[in-house]
Amino acid sequence: MENNTNYKHRDYSSEWLHLLVESALDAVITMDSGGRIIAFNPAAENIFGHSREKVIGKRVSELLIPPKFRTLHEKGLRQLLRIQLTALRADGDEFPIELEVVTVRESSNPVFMAYIRDISERILASQEKIDSYKKIKKILLQTVLAVSKALEIRDPYTAGHQKRVAHLATAMAQELQLDEERIEGIFFGALIHDIGKIAIPADILTRPGKLSREDEYYLKTHCFKGYEILNAIEYPWPIADIALQHHEHLDGSGYPQGLIDSNILLEAKIISIADVVEALTSHRPYRPAIPLEEALLLIRSKAGRWFDKKAVMACLSIFKRGYRIDDPDFSKLPLHNSL
Ligand SMILES: [Fe+2]
Repeated sequence: MENNTNYKHRDYSSEWLHLLVESALDAVITMDSGGRIIAFNPAAENIFGHSREKVIGKRVSELLIPPKFRTLHEKGLRQLLRIQLTALRADGDEFPIELEVVTVRESSNPVFMAYIRDISERILASQEKIDSYKKIKKILLQTVLAVSKALEIRDPYTAGHQKRVAHLATAMAQELQLDEERIEGIFFGALIHDIGKIAIPADILTRPGKLSREDEYYLKTHCFKGYEILNAIEYPWPIADIALQHHEHLDGSGYPQGLIDSNILLEAKIISIADVVEALTSHRPYRPAIPLEEALLLIRSKAGRWFDKKAVMACLSIFKRGYRIDDPDFSKLPLHNSL
């Protein structure tokens, strides 16, 4: 009976609240409307390295936030936002936090509670994830380059061809402002687009003079062969289809499938232009190199019929700005350190 009376008169809610705050794993800091600390829980003492006696009455922004982040912190406090910030420990170390500010007492003199979580480990884990993704991508690039090299050992006339095509196609994709992921796909796809030539007899690849009809037919199978080789690997980009489609034309006059515009990947459309410009301006056993101006005139004359108009314009623009196909700057490419 007596207990029931006590139950009615004691304010259990504030005791529970106190217990909750004291035992919380996140730092909980209570502030008055001027941002001065009025309560500081044990987790806050642990995260920031200050004892509660030392911080009561001090401003949060002056004590716990590095000077360069104070404006952002004050903005978060005013707008009652959940934000990520950099905080300051007692020993001067800066560390990342997630901060959420809520109003506890709505009145002319409100009290704010800041819930603060130390997210150093979360940030570290996501950085490690990014690093390992980059490492895998680098290994992937080195593998692609090794395969590309294998082809060039067999066919010295095309040595460097795939690299130069990759460079030009990437520059065109950047000019077209494609997203980064797609640009990387174009770069990787171009580096290995002729891999199917590994299945073509070296004699056909390196023979001077015009090829017979039969040899030409055989040479054209390199698109299918490339597709067969690359389709077995689960790349994050359509690499196998790029190898298959890089000789297709918008009007259906290309090979090996005679695809028309809407059925050809943009990646393949870009690489096909870079491929033609690079091939025409390089010496081949069956013909000398053609001047760059002539090669550019040819792709311009085929814009809209063979080649995508926007991709042609992108190609012409970068050459107009001084792009050098004979001396490409690989330092501006994705993962250039591996090249
Ligand atoms: Fe090709």
